[in-house]
Amino acid sequence: MATTILVVDDERESAQMLSRFFEASGYEVLSASEGVEALRLAKENRVDLMITDLKMPRMDGITLLKEMQTVSPQTVGIVVTGFATVDTAVEAMKVGAFDYVSKPFQLEEIRLAVQRALDHRRLKEENVSLKQQLRKKYRFENIVGDHPKMQELFRLIERVANSDSTVLVTGDSGTGKELVARAIHYNSNRREKYLVPVNCGAIPENLLESELFGYVKGAFTGATATREGRFETANGGTIFLDEIGEMSMNLQVKLLRVIQESEFEPVGSSKTRRVDVRIIAATNINLEQAVKERQFREDLFYRLNVIPLHIPPLRERRSDIPLLVNHFLSHFREEKNRDVQPLDDDVMAALMAYDWPGNVRELENLIERMVILSDDGHIRMNDLPEKLREAQGIPAPTHVVIPEGGLEFNKVIGDYEDRLILSALERTKGNKNLAAKLLNLKRTTLVEKIKKKGLDEVIAEKMAG
Ligand SMILES: Nc1ncnc2c1ncn2[C@@H]1O[C@H](COP(=O)(O)OP(=O)(O)OP(=O)(O)O)[C@@H](O)[C@H]1O
Ligand SMILES: [Mg+2]
Repeated sequence: MATTILVVDDERESAQMLSRFFEASGYEVLSASEGVEALRLAKENRVDLMITDLKMPRMDGITLLKEMQTVSPQTVGIVVTGFATVDTAVEAMKVGAFDYVSKPFQLEEIRLAVQRALDHRRLKEENVSLKQQLRKKYRFENIVGDHPKMQELFRLIERVANSDSTVLVTGDSGTGKELVARAIHYNSNRREKYLVPVNCGAIPENLLESELFGYVKGAFTGATATREGRFETANGGTIFLDEIGEMSMNLQVKLLRVIQESEFEPVGSSKTRRVDVRIIAATNINLEQAVKERQFREDLFYRLNVIPLHIPPLRERRSDIPLLVNHFLSHFREEKNRDVQPLDDDVMAALMAYDWPGNVRELENLIERMVILSDDGHIRMNDLPEKLREAQGIPAPTHVVIPEGGLEFNKVIGDYEDRLILSALERTKGNKNLAAKLLNLKRTTLVEKIKKKGLDEVIAEKMAG
């Protein structure tokens, strides 16, 4: 679509000259000789940019700019003004004009101003749509989870998002801690400002302080210029301190001060800076344990732990696995533009039986790999890595197929118990002590079950065979 420029000038000649010039440069040009007509044109057409004179009868340029913002907010304004009215030009900028050009002007001058204004508008639009995308991405529909513990987590996120309270997100590696931090930020009233992530574990200790708080020129060798820190960047927004457990004791003191007083000094400076930053911290280590071992300050722990959000490991919410699998399948189907079929039951059962030490990230990576590697979009049992095929031997309690005609609940459970006990004994070569350990049962309970179920004979037979 061609870019449309609206030229407003009561001097017919000057309006015509501009119109011809921009038409020749490939723009769509509309022209008006006064404000009311200009506003009518902007209502009826999409106008990207308006060049207006300031001094006009009926409606002056300033009023026109103001009105234009209501009628057509996406229109950028450029003001053309006689030399004597530079003050008015400044006023025009205040009511939203992007630039001004003084009369008499060279056409090249005004062409450049138009170019700059359009570039600026495009960047602004891209920025808005980027922010909208981000916001969409971190609404909750992108954190998949139906398990009661996840539902509870979503409710908590919703409730705490708009407060300024410090949040501590805990959970094993790959459980979605960063995702939760983003959801909080993009659902909070700080969403228009930055979310600044800092991985405390990835930045060397001696650099972390200047990274967080910034430094002034000459603060240390190599500090050739003053640089703002991440807290400054996050001002008005949120800072995400990932792997907070890795922070040194020395820095912990400084962080505590930011939390308590909202202030800090850049490295090498004695000038105190004040910021308004919401803190979300995350860790996959047990901070309470670290406090006991004196690796982490107790006072800081309590300051961070105002709102604890714990994300359970994937193996404790296996019922979410099919949801996640389908979520990632459709995601990668789109991203890689591949035809992918829904998973076969046995493949899904294997995924549900596996323990996922790397949690959701491991699952996501696996699905991505399988989508890329499959030739015909059909993922088969044989495509799964060995460790997943092995896990399938233990049927997942959450994935059962109920036969058409229904089943005998107690018998199925009983049979399942038998199978568990027998395989445990097989694995331990008949040693009941060890078998009980494997099953996390008391030895007496196991012995009792064997006796009650009359399994002794079966076992004797197996051992003999
Ligand atoms: N519930 C979920 N729904 C959808 N995607 C998820 C979910 N949980 C995690 N993911 C995805 O899994 C990946 C890992 O998540 P994230 O980086 O948030 O984990 P983390 O806990 O910060 O991991 P680490 O401790 O390794 O830093 C990301 O790609 C994320 O989008
Ligand atoms: Mg992370």
